[in-house]
Amino acid sequence: MTSETDHSLGEAVAARIDRRWASLSIVIVGVLVGMAAFIGIHQATMPQGHVETADPKTLHLSGEFIESNLGSAIEADGSVTVRAIGQQYSFVPDCLLVPTDTPITFRATSPDVVHGFLIIGTNINTMLVPGYVSNIATRFSKPGEHLMPCQEFCGVGHEGMWARVKVIDKAEFTRLSAGKRRVSCAD
Ligand code: CUA
Repeated sequence: MTSETDHSLGEAVAARIDRRWASLSIVIVGVLVGMAAFIGIHQATMPQGHVETADPKTLHLSGEFIESNLGSAIEADGSVTVRAIGQQYSFVPDCLLVPTDTPITFRATSPDVVHGFLIIGTNINTMLVPGYVSNIATRFSKPGEHLMPCQEFCGVGHEGMWARVKVIDKAEFTRLSAGKRRVSCAD
């Protein structure tokens, strides 16, 4: 008789535990669905803070990415902004000049198709998407030269599309850029 009672008691306990697990899993699923819905609605209602656009059809005619504005510029706060364009099948300028120990911001875009912006030996690796400005902040601690190959397949000339990033001593950079609006390796 006792074993019979024990048995049904055990069953009742097992059923209770089962129900607990079942409710817990429903709660977990509910939380996940809630999170997914929140993220989706949040992104739809508030566009990301840093999306900047640039009309690919008029890049060369006006605005930030006209040819005379490409290259490195010293800002009022001492930081350096480097503007570049990636296009089929080259980067303009094809050699970016930057100083050591200075906050650097790369700003680049594409007038045609998606290209890659990868600086070997650094963690910089992004895409240049027509219509959008890619903005990357970085800093170089020592002088040297880095290859910058396009790493997104962009057409028949993709393999030959690459540039260089030349990092020079800060004092030399300041000297080279004196009196110039923009500098690149050619200066
Ligand atoms: Cu540009 Cu690959």
